[in-house]
Amino acid sequence: MPNTIVAIPKIFDQAADFMPINGTDYIELYVSNAKQAAHYYKTAFGFQSLAYAGLETGLTDRESYVVVQDKIRLVLTSPLRSGTMIGKHIDKHGDGVKVVALWVDDATYAYHEAVKRGAEPFLEPVMELDEYGKVVRSGIHTYGEVVHIFIERRDYDGVFLPGFKKWESHYNPTATGLKYVDHMVGNVDLGRMDYWVDFYEKVMGFVNILSFDDKDISTEYTALMSKVMSNGNGRIKFPINEPAPGLKKSQVEEYLEFYEGEGVQHIAVATDDIVATVTDLRNRGVEFLQVPATYYDVLEKRVGKIDEDIDSLRDLGILVDRDEEGYLLQIFTKTVQARPTMFFEIIQRKGAQSFGKGNFKALFEALEREQELRGTL
Ligand code: FE2
Repeated sequence: MPNTIVAIPKIFDQAADFMPINGTDYIELYVSNAKQAAHYYKTAFGFQSLAYAGLETGLTDRESYVVVQDKIRLVLTSPLRSGTMIGKHIDKHGDGVKVVALWVDDATYAYHEAVKRGAEPFLEPVMELDEYGKVVRSGIHTYGEVVHIFIERRDYDGVFLPGFKKWESHYNPTATGLKYVDHMVGNVDLGRMDYWVDFYEKVMGFVNILSFDDKDISTEYTALMSKVMSNGNGRIKFPINEPAPGLKKSQVEEYLEFYEGEGVQHIAVATDDIVATVTDLRNRGVEFLQVPATYYDVLEKRVGKIDEDIDSLRDLGILVDRDEEGYLLQIFTKTVQARPTMFFEIIQRKGAQSFGKGNFKALFEALEREQELRGTL
């Protein structure tokens, strides 16, 4: 089997797509302290207050803060008492992604189609109404304890979802230029990647657009394998990673150990100006992985001419890679919660539709330096 591109990301016949998805609706994280997490995402990442649900809206067991930046919505949820499902999730995994919500035109159809094809049900279709209209939600399980909720909101013009009220705040830090979710990566157990690739193909109608094996993604010590799944219109991309045997513990193994199971490894968010965005994020305290300065000495030789000033890229630690269609710029934050599990990627695409394969080695060596400091390599 070739170890790189299996199929170029030319998405298949739209008419044959049995699971049309308009985009990522929201991402919900279960966190220990939603109120403070919301403040972090506002302050550090430039999100804005959008909606709230909790005691003031009639909930008794949990509260959620919703923050927004352009098309990206994050829901931060914490339990209000002990012994809840949310609390158990946090006890086991630490802070992490529970829901990857997908925006569809028909959540009832999406649910039945997915379940017919083998998905494990999570939420049977429910219709919720308030003065702003109606929303239909349904849900299925995916890897680990992560779920996909289908959201049908064409007859709704409320602030977020029924049950939420607008969250007015006097604290509205400026945005940092984050626009939409480019892709979201899942880490799964050794030997389970192909199972989940199969799941996204059969149940969700996704296609495998790229594959990387341990020859592509390895350093002296560690390796991983990855397959990128895309939905029909290319708006949803889910790379799935599994660890590969190496001399030392890989970052995926470290994730699986500390998350105590499979889960979302990183959320990649797009910007139109990565230099401005990363400068802003860094000034607000977001920490990024650093590659050695020597990475930039050979950069132009490797990727050819680019629009950006190499000195700015070196100063910020932004990585560049080129494919047949153009190039991309990317950078990875350090993990954003107590456990060394989830992190963010900031990405700017200038034609390239790939995922930065040329950066894997430099990147994983940077990750290994972090692991070394934690004593988990
Ligand atoms: Fe990524």
